Amino acid sequence: MNYMQLIENASSEKLRGGYYTPRKIADFILKWGLRDLLYTDILEPSCGDGAFLKALKSLGYCFHSLTAVEYNQVEAEKAMQVEIGDVVNADFHAFCRDTDKRFNLIVGNPPFIRYQYYNEEQQQIAEELFQKAGLKFSKLTNAWVTFVIGCSLLLQERGRIGFVVPAELLQVGYALQLREYLSNFYNKINIISFKKLVFEGIQQEVVLLLCEKDGSSNHLIDHLELKDADDLATLDVNKLGCHSKTIDFRSDKWTFYFLSQKEIDLLEHVRKNNMPTISDFADVEVGITTGANGYFTVPQSVVRSYQMEQYAYPMVGRSVQVSSCIFTKQDWKNNQTNDAKSNLLIFPPKAREEANEGTRNYILNGEILEINKGYKTRIRDYWYVIPSIKISDALMVRRNNLFPKLVLNKAKAYTTDTMHRVFIHPNVNELAFVASFYNSVSLAFSEILGRSYGGGVLELMPGEAANIPLPYHAANADLLDKVDSMLRCGMDIEKILDYTDDVILRQRAGYSTRQIQTARDIWKKLSSRRLERGHSEIKPKKKIKVYTIPEGQVGYQLSLFEPNAIYKCKNDNSLLVATCRQGTKEWITSHYLYNYPMTEQELAAHPELLEVRHLIIVHKKSFVGYYRVSKAFKADKSWLRDHDYPIKSSRQKSLATYIVYSLEPTDTIPPAINTKDWSLVIGKGVKMNEGPTRA
Ligand SMILES: C[S@@+](CC[C@H](N)C(=O)[O-])C[C@H]1O[C@@H](n2cnc3c(N)ncnc32)[C@H](O)[C@@H]1O
Repeated sequence: MNYMQLIENASSEKLRGGYYTPRKIADFILKWGLRDLLYTDILEPSCGDGAFLKALKSLGYCFHSLTAVEYNQVEAEKAMQVEIGDVVNADFHAFCRDTDKRFNLIVGNPPFIRYQYYNEEQQQIAEELFQKAGLKFSKLTNAWVTFVIGCSLLLQERGRIGFVVPAELLQVGYALQLREYLSNFYNKINIISFKKLVFEGIQQEVVLLLCEKDGSSNHLIDHLELKDADDLATLDVNKLGCHSKTIDFRSDKWTFYFLSQKEIDLLEHVRKNNMPTISDFADVEVGITTGANGYFTVPQSVVRSYQMEQYAYPMVGRSVQVSSCIFTKQDWKNNQTNDAKSNLLIFPPKAREEANEGTRNYILNGEILEINKGYKTRIRDYWYVIPSIKISDALMVRRNNLFPKLVLNKAKAYTTDTMHRVFIHPNVNELAFVASFYNSVSLAFSEILGRSYGGGVLELMPGEAANIPLPYHAANADLLDKVDSMLRCGMDIEKILDYTDDVILRQRAGYSTRQIQTARDIWKKLSSRRLERGHSEIKPKKKIKVYTIPEGQVGYQLSLFEPNAIYKCKNDNSLLVATCRQGTKEWITSHYLYNYPMTEQELAAHPELLEVRHLIIVHKKSFVGYYRVSKAFKADKSWLRDHDYPIKSSRQKSLATYIVYSLEPTDTIPPAINTKDWSLVIGKGVKMNEGPTRA
């Protein structure tokens, strides 16, 4: 399928990378680019409907020539109507390969499109452009990277590019060689980032990339952060870059340049003085890949109900389950009592045939949930046998919030890929290893080495975690219990660092109070920037999936466990599989109630729903519980409200009636479900065709 077909089929702005530049940003980039140029040949490589062209026109700048390229015909025609310069309806890849023209100012907001959506010819040209720039092409790269490289190749001896690009530029692996390329190719780079998202309606964080080639031998860089696009109006383009730092070709991420020179010097000092890193004391590996965490990691109630005690092993799967830097047996027991997902199901190959009835049913029900068809599970000899099961000495949280956590695994718990497994080398004091991590230098480097994601998350992958400097000292073992109790009582991390920095960094690693303060400043600056970003995010509205069941197909089997639907057993009216949302799971299990919104007519069409006596409740790919129904009745919204039901969605507000089941725990083993015996009763968000899909 070629790119244009895709546009037609999906007609999505996202696919086209069609988010247009806000006027304030276009104005600023032009002001910067044209500040002292008299004879300008301008290029806009993907002009859309002409945001930059409109800005140029209304600001009344003088220039020598203006060429604008746009692939989408409709948009190109809109840009032509701006009536400025030459608008070419073409693919930039081909334009870039074929043109002899060279420019001294290139501005724009290139598309954010993965190469799988471009046709082969475009991919081929992209590869050629990469080669021309001396770079290696990978299909994993994104169109905006090719646009930046291609445009650089179209620059005159001296010239500027001013682009709106994804903030990923600063840190992602696939943009690493682009960063290196830009660092070498340009003499001055200015990056402007924003505390608040500047594009309405999209989550993509963007930065302005302003690069200049001036014929000098300098390689300078500066990173400035503004509150939002409004701040650009008062930014003096002539003073931009006066705090530039010399590019450090060894540092592979540009988040670094957000720091002051003094702060960069401290980081350099840590490196030059060869502070060891985590990898000198331990191996960091991803946690166990179950292939379906929701299915293989279960709360005690599910273990009990399917009688799988023999196959359930202690595990810790989520950062909220770890409150400190030591994970004890008691912590695990508390998680069990709170019915957290604290068990890992380790089945032997013969379990499907030879285990007890409950376990067999659980495995069979996994096949109904299509766990066996998962990306990871389907390649196993036995889909339910998880490979590479090892318990680690310590755990490292992969996605962190306030600060990263390294945790001693005293409980000897397994962990899934939500945490990394840390295998401490022999002869290293385990307590000292963990305690040594809690200091300002290690935390500052965690922010530098990790990536910050939406929601203010700091993600550390094993390779990044391994590179974090660790001021290890065997004597630090004596700090662990104290740090543990401080963390447990919820003490502010800064207070904890006041204590640990003094012992770990000052007394035992020889850092001065001033250096420690600088390290702390770096950590605070980077972590608060990350966290603030999380707060300012506009959460996209969750789309409700609509499932269309193909005509003439008994398609309901495929969507059997999709949320927003309930199913009944064809042969047995007393058994119902019901799905629930994340937000109502807790209400169901704590109140022993299940409800489903239905109109009076729907209820009248399905009187059998009042006959239901057993309920299997499923959330996505995991089993929530199996219950006996003691009562089935109709209720209205106020009844639900009186029973603490978390009523939120507008959809529920409009539906006045609900069927409610009063539940009771049961000792009976949940039955194995066979898809053939089940049919969809009714589903919110499920578009029903006439015919076989109606139960
Ligand atoms: C993010 S929009 C930016 C538009 C405009 N530059 C602006 O700043 O508002 C990216 C534009 O790139 C266009 N585009 C996508 N692939 C292209 C290609 N291969 N060649 C030229 N334009 C392309 C899209 O149609 C879209 O209009």
